Amino acid sequence: MPKFTLDGKEIAFEPGETVMEAAWREGIEIPHYCWHPGLSVAANCRMCLVHIESGRQMAMPQLVFDEAKGEYVPTTKPKLQPACQLAAAEDMVVSSTNDEVKAAQASVQEFLLLNHPVDCPICDQAGECKLQDYYYEHQGTLKRKLTEPVHKPKGVRFGPTIIYDAERCIMCTRCIRVCDEVAKDHVLDMRERGNRNEIILAPGRELDHKYTLMTEHVCPVGALTSQDFRFKARVWFLKSGQGVCTGCATGCNTHVDYDPRYGKVYRLRPRDNPDVNQFWMCDDGMMTYARHDRDRLLMPTSGRAEERIPLGEDEALDLAAEKLKAVDGSKLAVVLSAQHTTEDNLALAKLAAALGTSQLYLAALGGWQGDDILRSDDNNPNRAGGTRAADGATLKSTSELVTDVQSGAVQGVLALGWAAAEKLEELAPLVTLDGVVSLTSHVGALPAVASVAIPVADIFEIEGSFVNDKGMTQAFSPVLSLPAGVDPAWKTIHDLAARLGKDLAEAAQ
Ligand code: SF4
Ligand code: SF4
Ligand code: FES
Repeated sequence: MPKFTLDGKEIAFEPGETVMEAAWREGIEIPHYCWHPGLSVAANCRMCLVHIESGRQMAMPQLVFDEAKGEYVPTTKPKLQPACQLAAAEDMVVSSTNDEVKAAQASVQEFLLLNHPVDCPICDQAGECKLQDYYYEHQGTLKRKLTEPVHKPKGVRFGPTIIYDAERCIMCTRCIRVCDEVAKDHVLDMRERGNRNEIILAPGRELDHKYTLMTEHVCPVGALTSQDFRFKARVWFLKSGQGVCTGCATGCNTHVDYDPRYGKVYRLRPRDNPDVNQFWMCDDGMMTYARHDRDRLLMPTSGRAEERIPLGEDEALDLAAEKLKAVDGSKLAVVLSAQHTTEDNLALAKLAAALGTSQLYLAALGGWQGDDILRSDDNNPNRAGGTRAADGATLKSTSELVTDVQSGAVQGVLALGWAAAEKLEELAPLVTLDGVVSLTSHVGALPAVASVAIPVADIFEIEGSFVNDKGMTQAFSPVLSLPAGVDPAWKTIHDLAARLGKDLAEAAQ
């Protein structure tokens, strides 16, 4: 590979790459605002100016005072160039740290802050704001403009998910480009010039496509904030874990930002993976985190509707085992879940085999639209993992389960997960059976028709893996502790198996 030198370090590059891209790939950050590795080059912020110390220099005209002549005379000096637009060339020598570059970085930074409100204490971006970081790294001087700053619109509702503050905006156009190039929807643009610039909506439009939260994600400052996250948490209190989105079978990689003090997840952010989601996530996927706290089942229950009563953990497992023992193995339906991990599904498939049933089903959500950007047509993260766990056995749907219950072919059910495509009334025939056991993290139609419901861990509390629609196995780690008395589903399945006289660890041999 050809090489160039950046700040004394040799950097290999692919022909056609820019200095910024090649440095970024090597883990070297040249200060930048408008450049983003997943977007086209705009080269408008000028924060990435570098000095070419060899060849290919562009000349910048300037006037220099000539003492002998007693007047200014025209001359030239090498022009600083934006690293985000500058094609890397063999043997080029570049500086991003010499005095001239440092002076340019400080000037650009000062310029960007001239009219900025500097309202960091009430800004959601504080703590992860490039203006803050670069002020300390590349400027650090007091404000010289003491007159009233230019005022612009604040708190502008761009749509159901995003609020815009034009005074904080540095006009990098990343938000415009993410709409144009990722969402393929030219809903944002820029108006006016100079310090009157602001981002605007297309006439008659709202920012309402399926990737609106990516505008906030790419905004390097606090100009775009998400309706969901704003004013809820200070980012320096948040820790981050590595997750996989449960929104669909694409399996976008995520940063799971949570506050360990409260055991609460506050947001998801895309985790770069060139083979899966590049740099992006869709809005529905970003919001899947909110399911965690909503409608959780945290206590075992028995009975249905008004007769439902709470049970102790052992009592619930004993009762579930008793009800399942009363069902003939060949008439027992075991329902795997396309929302649960492969590990949970494997344990359940193993229990089904140990109990002698071949009546396997797969519960999955429906009612969703995919696209040709990121979103899979399947809104379940692990249909492939559930199918893999069944090891070639036929998996019927939950609507077929209802038919089989009605025909008498199924007389008892052991089901994993809350998710099913059917509504409660469609699953109503299951309430005619005494032995319907649900292992679930949340309430839902499937747990609602169960005679025994046992809580199991949710996605943020366990390690495990999903298989996405490309067949890639993607593992994730827990970020939150298990709630009291709640285990991962595979562990609960092992405990239930023991009460049914089956040792799944042995069955694995
Ligand atoms: S709103 Fe943010 S992303 Fe959009 S131009 Fe302004 S600073 Fe850049
Ligand atoms: S495309 Fe699918 S996996 Fe990716 S963020 Fe959206 S819902 Fe989640
Ligand atoms: S990052 Fe190069 S000009 Fe903005």
